[in-house]
Amino acid sequence: MRLILLGPPGAGKGTQAKRLIERYGIPQISTGDILRAAVRDGTDLGKKAKQYMDAGKLVPDEVVIGIIEERLQEADCANGFILDGFPRTVAQADALNRVLANLGQAIDHVVSIEVPDEELVERLTGRRTCRGCGAMYHVKFSPPKAQGVCDKCGGELYQRDDDREETIRARLKVYHEQTAPLVEYYEKAGLLRRIPGQGSVDEIYARIEGVLGG
Ligand code: AP5
Repeated sequence: MRLILLGPPGAGKGTQAKRLIERYGIPQISTGDILRAAVRDGTDLGKKAKQYMDAGKLVPDEVVIGIIEERLQEADCANGFILDGFPRTVAQADALNRVLANLGQAIDHVVSIEVPDEELVERLTGRRTCRGCGAMYHVKFSPPKAQGVCDKCGGELYQRDDDREETIRARLKVYHEQTAPLVEYYEKAGLLRRIPGQGSVDEIYARIEGVLGG
């Protein structure tokens, strides 16, 4: 299955992707995770991306398109993948169509997870992520058993640099201006499945399974 998870920052794309990869045995491809790893490792890509990410802006299309083009050709994507955070502009969506056509593939479903902005701000300001295994927590909605420590691997929990309220508001603005048009783009293509994104993580997962026919 080739799936795109679409939705604003904090909609739960990463949270749901982690469950879906277990269910379907296909990789999660998160451009945000790839870019954060490059920033952490101090690569040329990371140095270029950091200024955009810290400001809550999108990294230039040609940079992320190049990343995805390479990643989709890796062997583990042969039976499908879950795109999380890509595409984010119409130019990226058009490029994805071209890349997949060259590989003789196509997207099966685009799941749009819909959550009001105010809830997104609360989710993102409270998000904590494990440095070790990447597990996700929320200080109020899904707190770890011991503060600052991952339940799964004992790793340290950290707050993302772009999860400060001012940067979150900038990211939401960018989402509404540049990414939200993709809802209509994929609706016209007959691929869009809308999911109300409020409720428990289990409830939202069940809604996604429902539209995927699982
Ligand atoms: P990226 O890493 O993609 O961030 P994002 O899209 O802003 O999405 P998030 O990871 O913030 O949210 P999410 O929807 O995954 O929510 P999550 O599951 O974590 O991008 C970061 C930056 O990289 C961009 O700003 C840009 O600069 C750059 N970038 C990346 N891709 C790019 C591209 N294609 N083009 C250009 N630039 C790009 O959940 C959030 C919180 O809510 C967690 O704490 C979680 O525990 C909690 N939560 C989840 N579900 C629920 C629920 N049902 N109820 C209550 N809380 C919940």
